[in-house]
Amino acid sequence: MLTQEEVVQLLNPVKDPFLHRTLEETGGITSVTIKEDKKHVSVKVGISKTNTGEQMELQQEIVGILKKAGANTVGLRFEQLSDEVIQKYQPAAEKAKEESLMGGESNTKFIAIASGKGGVGKSTVTVNLAVALMRLGKKVGIIDADIYGFSVPDMMGIEKRPVVQEEKIVPVERFGVQVISMGFFVEDNSPIIWRGPMLGKMINSFFSEVEWGELDYLLLDLPPGTGDIAMDVHELLPTCKEIIVTTPHPTAAFVAARAGQMALKTDHEILGVVENMAYFESKKTGEKEYVFGEGGGTKLAEVLNTKVLGQLPIQQPYEEEDVFAPSVYQEDHPNGKEFHKIAAKVIAKLEE
Ligand SMILES: Nc1ncnc2c1ncn2[C@@H]1O[C@H](COP(=O)(O)OP(=O)(O)O)[C@@H](O)[C@H]1O
Ligand SMILES: [Mg+2]
Repeated sequence: MLTQEEVVQLLNPVKDPFLHRTLEETGGITSVTIKEDKKHVSVKVGISKTNTGEQMELQQEIVGILKKAGANTVGLRFEQLSDEVIQKYQPAAEKAKEESLMGGESNTKFIAIASGKGGVGKSTVTVNLAVALMRLGKKVGIIDADIYGFSVPDMMGIEKRPVVQEEKIVPVERFGVQVISMGFFVEDNSPIIWRGPMLGKMINSFFSEVEWGELDYLLLDLPPGTGDIAMDVHELLPTCKEIIVTTPHPTAAFVAARAGQMALKTDHEILGVVENMAYFESKKTGEKEYVFGEGGGTKLAEVLNTKVLGQLPIQQPYEEEDVFAPSVYQEDHPNGKEFHKIAAKVIAKLEE
C-alpha cells in the first residue's frame, strides 16, 4: 500500500491550474492520511482558486493518479492557498504568459472581435477595422482564429500563402495589413476538429512562431459563440480588449451579451459594441429600412456598460475591376467612412 511519502511524490508534479506551478512549488499538498486496511487515501490540497471547473478537472487528475498507484478510494478536500503564496506566483505566471506570446516586451495592443453567433459580421468588422487602422497610419496584423469558419483570406482576396523564413512564419501582407489565418494551414478548405491542446498549440504558435515585426495593433477574429472552444480561445489570449459585434435584432443582441459576459469573466475589457447590418438604405428613395429590427446595439452596450462604437448599414463594397477583395470597403465608401470613425475611436481609447 502507498505511503504518505509516496503520495506526496506522486502529487508533487501536478500543477495548480491557475498559477501553472507544481504543487511542490506552491506547497499545495497540505495533508495526507492513509487508512492501510481499506486502502483509503485522503489528501488536502491548496490551490489558488477553489470551486471552479478547473478544480473538478484537477480532482479527476489526482484521483486518477492515486487509484492507478493502488488506492481503492480517495478522499479529496480543496482549500485556498494563502494570499502570500498566490501573490508570489501570480504575477510571474501572468507575466510569463504575456511575454511568451509575442516574444519579449512588446507594445502591441490586442483587440479581439467577438460575437454571440456566426454570420453577424464579425470577420467583416475585423478586416475593415484593421484596414481603417492601417489607413490611419498604424501597423496592423490580423489573426484569423475563427477555427470554425476562417474567412479572412477570402474576404480580403488573399491568394498567397505565408512563407517560412529562418524558422518563422512570415504573414501575408494585404492592403498593408499582416494576416495569418487558420485557413492557410488547411488543405482544400477542409474542416478540422480542434481539440483543446491542439487548439492551444495553434493559437500559441500564431503568436510566437509568426514574424509579426513591430505591430501597433493585432486584431483577432474569434470563433463565434459562447461554448467551450470560444472560452478556450478567450483564456489563451493575453490581456486584450474586446469589441462585440451584433446585429440590431434583439435575439442576436441577447446572445452577444453572453459573449460579452465571457470577455468580462476572462478580464478582457470591452471597448465597445459594433452594430452591423443596422439598416438598409434604399438607393432610390434614401429611405432607411430596419430589416433586422432596431436597438440591439444600444441595448447590448447598456447591458455591458459600454458604448456603441458604430453602426454599419447593409451595403456591398464598390466593385472594382483591378482589385479583388469582396469584403473590404473603400475609404470613400459610406461603410469605409464609418469604419474610419470606429478606428479613430479605438485609437483615442487606447492611446490617449
Ligand atoms: N454591413 C454589411 N453589408 C452587407 N453584407 C454584409 C455586411 N456585414 C457582413 N456582410 C456579409 O454577411 C456575411 C456574414 O458576415 P461575416 O463577416 O462573415 O460574419 P461572421 O464572421 O460573424 O460569421 C458575409 O457574407 C458578409 O460579406
Ligand atoms: Mg467570420
